[in-house]
Amino acid sequence: MRVIQVKDYQEMSDVAADFLAGQIFHKPHSVLGLATGGTPEGTYKSFIQKARHKELPLSELTTFNLDEYEGLSPEHPNSYHMYMNEHLFQPLELSSTQTYLPKGDAENVEKEARRYEQMIQDHGGIDLQLLGIGENGHIGFNEPGTSFTSRTHVEHLKPTTREANARYFEKKEDVPERAITMGIATIMDSRSIILLASGDRKKQAVKKLVEEVRKEEFPASSLKIHPYVTIIADEAALSAVS
Ligand code: F6R
Repeated sequence: MRVIQVKDYQEMSDVAADFLAGQIFHKPHSVLGLATGGTPEGTYKSFIQKARHKELPLSELTTFNLDEYEGLSPEHPNSYHMYMNEHLFQPLELSSTQTYLPKGDAENVEKEARRYEQMIQDHGGIDLQLLGIGENGHIGFNEPGTSFTSRTHVEHLKPTTREANARYFEKKEDVPERAITMGIATIMDSRSIILLASGDRKKQAVKKLVEEVRKEEFPASSLKIHPYVTIIADEAALSAVS
């Protein structure tokens, strides 16, 4: 794992956006894996500016998001569909035929997880996967204990994850209990991976990722044997690494 230390959230966002732009510049028909949450918001903002400025070719691009909450329709204000439309897809005018997320409101979510996994395979897999990291080490919604051989599946969210994400909902009870997420093996199949971390809140997770051994109790540690992982982290997120 390569670590790029940056000063702050803004620099992390700009560097990550450069990675995305570089990927698309060199391979316009790239398949990108995308994340939601607070961490990549700045990356998407910076990427939109770069894409407009450099006139990046986006018509052949395909994107697959990591996850979606169970039970939320694409129109639900807290769905990751909505998040992505607002933060990236609409500003760049990416069409719904090139941007994919799991359908959280599918009648049979287990079947939907299998369909989504198959769709990723059918598109030739992910070229560049963008990740955040949960304070408990989750990547996507793969919570501690998830098998490193897991494929896209339905995951029960830990209470700490639901609490961390409650800031986006009216009440914390509104945070769904389950989500469809790419599995660890799905993520590991990506040809390259960027993991972003910013702020004090992530420093223990980043320390574990960098310093501890690979184990299923800490999902992000799966990345340790991937040949092309770049961690882009700011000073605060790296402050506990010895
Ligand atoms: C989001 C995702 C999660 C987040 C993680 C960190 O699609 O898969 O793993 O990356 O929960 O969230 P933030 O960035 O809000 O701290």
